[in-house]
Amino acid sequence: MVTREELIQKAAGARQRAYCPYSHYQVGAALLTDDGQVYTGCNIENVSYSATVCAERTAIFAAVAAGHRHFQAMAVVGGPEGQKYDYAPPCGVCRQVMSEFCGKDFRILLAAEGKETREYTLEELLPQAFVLAER
Ligand code: THU
Repeated sequence: MVTREELIQKAAGARQRAYCPYSHYQVGAALLTDDGQVYTGCNIENVSYSATVCAERTAIFAAVAAGHRHFQAMAVVGGPEGQKYDYAPPCGVCRQVMSEFCGKDFRILLAAEGKETREYTLEELLPQAFVLAER
């Protein structure tokens, strides 16, 4: 069983692999599948800025590409290069991508070094999400 703290530490480890020569802001994410596996992601920037991908989507896409469709939780940490990790709430696009694969009860853990972890459901971060038909 993966603990909350382990998931946060995996996100912090992934953050070290961020490729962010433009913003110098490193984000790491760790996604827990329904069957207890963890997929990590970091932000990967591009000189053509709009081609940048966020850490959260990197993790989700890696997990989906590996065959996973059901997820329990994601830990996210971020902060300027060389600094402690801090709270980094997912952007709107990442919340939308979460909504494609995760239920309303999917948990998002936002951690900051030395501070209390904040926990939200996807429903709290993306209320009234768009759906083609009420599920
Ligand atoms: N970023 C993420 O990785 N996740 C988010 O939810 C918001 C922003 C990245 C994108 C870019 O590389 C850097 O943070 C600064 O915006």
